[in-house]
Amino acid sequence: MKKPLFFLILLTMTLSFQGLIAQEKTTVVVKQAENAPVISKHIYGHFAEHLGRCIYGGFYVGEDSAIPNTAGVRNDVVEALRDLKIPNLRWPGGCFADTYHWKDGIGPREERPSILNIWWGNVREDNSFGTHEFLNMCELLETEPYLSANVGSGTPQEFADWIKYTNHPAGSSPMPELREENGRKDPWKVKFWGVGNEAWGCGGNMTPQYYSDVYRRFATFSTDWRNSDGLVRIASGASSHDYNWTEVLMKNIPKNLIEAIALHHYSVIDWGAKGPAKDFTEEHYFTTMKRALEMEELVRKHVAIMDKYDKDKKVALFVDEWGGWYDVEPGTNPGFLYQQNTMRDAMIAGTTLNTFNNHADRVKMANLAQAVNVLQAVILTEEEKMILTPTYHVMKMYNVHQEAKLIPTKLESPKYSYEGESLPALSLSASQDKQGKVHFSFVNIDAHKTHTIELDLSGLDIKKVTGKILRSDKLQDHNSFDNPDKVKPSAFKDFGLKSGRLLISVPPFSVVVLEGTK
Ligand code: AHR
Repeated sequence: MKKPLFFLILLTMTLSFQGLIAQEKTTVVVKQAENAPVISKHIYGHFAEHLGRCIYGGFYVGEDSAIPNTAGVRNDVVEALRDLKIPNLRWPGGCFADTYHWKDGIGPREERPSILNIWWGNVREDNSFGTHEFLNMCELLETEPYLSANVGSGTPQEFADWIKYTNHPAGSSPMPELREENGRKDPWKVKFWGVGNEAWGCGGNMTPQYYSDVYRRFATFSTDWRNSDGLVRIASGASSHDYNWTEVLMKNIPKNLIEAIALHHYSVIDWGAKGPAKDFTEEHYFTTMKRALEMEELVRKHVAIMDKYDKDKKVALFVDEWGGWYDVEPGTNPGFLYQQNTMRDAMIAGTTLNTFNNHADRVKMANLAQAVNVLQAVILTEEEKMILTPTYHVMKMYNVHQEAKLIPTKLESPKYSYEGESLPALSLSASQDKQGKVHFSFVNIDAHKTHTIELDLSGLDIKKVTGKILRSDKLQDHNSFDNPDKVKPSAFKDFGLKSGRLLISVPPFSVVVLEGTK
């Protein structure tokens, strides 16, 4: 094996503000290591719950809709998500998952029973969008399905039957026969299976000890305890700082029964006073970013616990819910979690994805909550109209990191200060793709200052650099149905490359992705 190659990059940071120039010199070590992990494309995953207008109206309008669709799924949404290269989609929840009995959602639509969606607005769920509709939609999206199974109010039998129904060969047992009767001969071969969701809360209010026993029971019957199907079974993980949850699960669940453990973390100011999605103050912004940047510490600490019990990193960390959570848009149903998406959300996305990239040795999947019309959505719809949010643009700019090899970096960032508190202003991740192209993604969360960075690229064979930027005049800027392109990426040219040294200026609250080629 080749010796790891170490590159030392010296970064000179020039802070300019109101005409005053202050010089700060920061050393950034960029280690291009032979054993660096590949950034799993699944870090760029999404989540679609039966919540508000995510499924109904967002993804699915039904075959009879005047909105152009394929088997009831909106063509505009499919096109946008394919463009984004979404690698996976988690469904049907969320909290909804632990009330969902999948057999209600198969067979002729007119015969499917309705249920009450107790978590999200107490609306009637008619089950018209079920297993076939979701898995066929994933084929259309060219994305891998992630099914979140009902543990809270379901049974191991239901769980095992769902696996057989979706995955087992035609004619091999009653479940695949039922699938065939319902119009689908070939199995979909679903790899990712969530064993419950938020078991500490809406998934059953369980203790970690109790849940880990329940998990063992469900996982045993996933088809069989040897996991002969080769599934990725995901244990319902901790909420943010609940390290005890991860500790107890890692201790009590035998490694032959688990492939991944989840973690949920929302960037919420205060669960009792979340603040507005678009008309927020700098104080709101600063606090949101404080919560978002906690992801770094959360990943580090949960991973340290996992390392204790699983030195070989056999069990992956899946951050299968993350994103900003604010008050719903005025006049909308409080149970539907519909919120606008601004440059603040672009900052959350850029910094969080950098964290996941930088921890790619253990973080193998993440799912932004949620894809369409709910929380930090990449797409918003209003009847036949559709818009792409700033978060969409960040995820698209970053998709160059999917399946690329991480180039480890160590950045000592200048500070973004507000009312006596400070946060690191800059965040960075880097990778090299299979064609040899190097990508750097920078985020400057500072609400006021441009940060000028000098990179010594002499260790990398880079002759040409191109760039894209997402920026806007105000933090509150967003796309609307009247002005859908207010925030969109543009070419970035505010850099110079000379003798292997790259000088770039990253404007306040912007995301920059640079591509370096030979
Ligand atoms: O994403 C919205 C909700 O947040 C999910 O249903 C639940 O898992 C979490 O609490």
